[in-house]
Amino acid sequence: MDLRETLAALKSEAMSALESAGGAELDALRVKYLGKKGEITAILKQMGGLPAAERPVIGQLANEVRAELEKSIEERARELSEKALEMRLRAEAVDVTIPGSAPKIGKKHPMYSVLDQVKDVFIGMGFEILEDREVELAEYNFTRLNVEEGHPAREWSDTFYFTEDASILLRTQTSPMQIHAMETHKPPIRILAPGRVYRKDEVDATHSPMFHQIEGMAIDKGITMADLKGTLDAVVKQLYGEESVTRFRPHHFPFTEPSCEVDIQCHKCHGRGCPTCKDEGWIELLGAGMIHPKVLASCGIDPEVYSGWAFGMGLERMAMGHYKISDLRLIFENDVRFLEQF
Ligand code: PHE
Repeated sequence: MDLRETLAALKSEAMSALESAGGAELDALRVKYLGKKGEITAILKQMGGLPAAERPVIGQLANEVRAELEKSIEERARELSEKALEMRLRAEAVDVTIPGSAPKIGKKHPMYSVLDQVKDVFIGMGFEILEDREVELAEYNFTRLNVEEGHPAREWSDTFYFTEDASILLRTQTSPMQIHAMETHKPPIRILAPGRVYRKDEVDATHSPMFHQIEGMAIDKGITMADLKGTLDAVVKQLYGEESVTRFRPHHFPFTEPSCEVDIQCHKCHGRGCPTCKDEGWIELLGAGMIHPKVLASCGIDPEVYSGWAFGMGLERMAMGHYKISDLRLIFENDVRFLEQF
């Protein structure tokens, strides 16, 4: 076969290989035909055996074939990359006309909404909000609140103690805030101290080992039980409406004397008795009383000059009444289906 025919055959073979070549095969073809050890170079090497007149003709022909192949390979490469780009654009297409998904925006927990309402009422009466530690000394949680060692309220079965000597604990009430406030403030004192408290209670519909209390306290010259009644009555009317009725019952707390418990008349049955108030007609709201002279004295406040009242109320119970929540556990589970309702 003469070199002309060889070149023509090589060209048509290369062209048909190119037609179906993918990106990776393209480079292999380039090397195979145009490379230093490629087929065209091989043909050029054979030219030595040709008559002198033939050489330039074959040489030119070989160069033409090389140029054509180079061009075709380039074209095929461009074709392939255009196709790849088109496929990518189609695959990654974003339809900007599809409506977006709205971000979920959280909101205040129902119990903290109630706390905010209570805070607002007391701030309006000139009270200062105090927040402090949940890990307490037994001295503040009990002793200085007139709960001596050996008192049943200090039992290991009710309290989370940290130390063998029962000197450090998770506070069981917000009342130690009374002592902290007396230590850091000079009378007249008016504080509201909300926060978490802890007791060894089994979880059920009305109990939790962690719950919230709001402590309130006022100390000044000439404060009497009438101030306590008047203040709490005003607070209840602001929170539950002008027509709401309160009831003060005698009670006992070691750190107040006299002590009382305050109930609010059931808003559902107006005292007649119904399932909401468990047929009582009244719903228990808080414990309160006049601060015991011993407690004032232990904080360096002269009980002959100053007097004061204090109260402690359960926040969960208030929120449950306010929003008609039937199970305490719902407040802590943070199930959005529940929380979304408020
Ligand atoms: N600390 C008391 C309790 O947990 C409530 C209370 C507070 C009573 C302040 C009187 C004065 O039951």
